[in-house]
Amino acid sequence: MSSDRTEQLRAIRDELVNLTESPLYEYRQRNKYFPVIGQGSHHADIMFIGEAPGKNEAETGRPFCGASGRVLDELLASIELDRQDVYVTNIVKDRPPNNRDPLKTEIDLYAPFLERQISIIQPKVIATLGRFSMEFILRRFGAFQANQKISQLHGQVIKVRTAYGRASIVPQYHPAAALYNASQRETLEKDFQVLKQFIGQGESGTMRLL
Ligand code: URA
Repeated sequence: MSSDRTEQLRAIRDELVNLTESPLYEYRQRNKYFPVIGQGSHHADIMFIGEAPGKNEAETGRPFCGASGRVLDELLASIELDRQDVYVTNIVKDRPPNNRDPLKTEIDLYAPFLERQISIIQPKVIATLGRFSMEFILRRFGAFQANQKISQLHGQVIKVRTAYGRASIVPQYHPAAALYNASQRETLEKDFQVLKQFIGQGESGTMRLL
C-alpha cells in the first residue's frame, strides 16, 4: 500500500508532468524527455539536491544517472551509504538546453515543488550539490549571507530551523567538478565524510522513482 508521502509525491509528479507553463516544457516535449522528479527513500534522513537534469537524466527520468551520477554513487559508497536510503533530486526538474546553468526564472518556477518535497520527506540533512542549490537552500532557510561562496561553505554543517524541526545543511561541490579535476574530487571525498555523522539513525529506505 502506498504511504501518505508517496501519494503526496505522486501529486507533485503529476503536476510537473503537466507543467505546460514552464519555459522548458516545449523543449522537453520536442526531445521526448521526461521531467526528473526525484529518486530514493521517501523516509530518507539525507536529501541530496542538484541543479537540473542533464541529457541522460531527461531521457530516463532519473536524477544523477550519467557521468555525475557515477561520481555521486562512488562518493556515497565511500561513506557506506546506499542510494536507496537517501533521496536525490534537483531544484529545476526539466533539462535546460545544452546543459546551461538554470535561469532565475526557472529556479523560481520549480522551487515550490522542491519545497514541497522537502516538507513531505522531512530530511534531517540537506546536502546541496553545487552553488545553485546551496544558495537557494541557504536563502530558503534564512541562512544565506551576502557574497557567501561555495568555496567558503563546502563541507560545513549549517544548522537551521524548519517547519518540521531542526535540520542541517551541508553544502557540497557538484559531483561534475570531480570529473576532470583530481583535487576537486579529493575535496568532495573529504566533504562527504562530514555526512557520516548523520548516517544510521533512521530506518532503511526502499528505492522509489518519484
Ligand atoms: N547534474 C545535476 O545537477 N543533476 C542531475 O540530475 C544530473 C546532473
